[in-house]
Amino acid sequence: MTVKNHNYKGWFITFEGPEGSGKSTQSQRLCDYLKKAGHDVIMTFEPGGTPIANQIRSIILSRENVKMVPCCEMFLYAASRAQHVSEVIIPHIEKGGVVVCDRFTDSSLAYQAFARGIGYETVSQVQKYATYGVGPDLTIMLDIPTEIGLDRTFKKRNPNKIEKSADRMELENIEFHRKVRDGYLKLAQMEPDRIKVLNAEEAPDEIYKKIIGIVESKLSS
Ligand code: TYD
Repeated sequence: MTVKNHNYKGWFITFEGPEGSGKSTQSQRLCDYLKKAGHDVIMTFEPGGTPIANQIRSIILSRENVKMVPCCEMFLYAASRAQHVSEVIIPHIEKGGVVVCDRFTDSSLAYQAFARGIGYETVSQVQKYATYGVGPDLTIMLDIPTEIGLDRTFKKRNPNKIEKSADRMELENIEFHRKVRDGYLKLAQMEPDRIKVLNAEEAPDEIYKKIIGIVESKLSS
């Protein structure tokens, strides 16, 4: 029997993982695959995904906002999510489409609940309200050791301008990013049916094949 995390006829798939895990590339590849297979699919991301949510995104990630307290951060991510869910995600799954989203509530749990230390219960409660109860049917979690992920993130950019191009979250110390990764692994243990963990150190084509296998079996369930 198909178990969905919402009451709509479409599918909601999210990608999660620490910095440098390759989510954006793999989620884009999955979208292209699903489109070719005839699905009505949209690719989106958080924080952002609508004009209002994109404005909130720039407040959250601006390096000028170093004074932002964890509670403010949690609510800003949630505010961006509420707008995104109502304006983009629900309308598309309501008409039977597939939404592929780069980051969603598990990011708030890994970063704000576990790494910032706000706590699982509090952040979960806020998510219930911000998402109107809509959750992903399937989450692909790309796992990567912290040092390797951060290294990849910064190497993708201009190596001479590492400091200048990092956003407020990426500038957090390595301990913070370790807690993010541990947080993700805890979440995967809590919800093994929904969250599928893949090793992001494998070759991109191997990871892609595994993702297609997991998604196909979900969509045909
Ligand atoms: P982004 O540039 O979208 O990063 P990435 O390419 O890593 O997905 O930046 C989003 C940052 O915000 C990233 O560091 C993760 C963080 N984040 C949270 O802390 N909580 C959240 O709920 C979300 C959606 C993202």
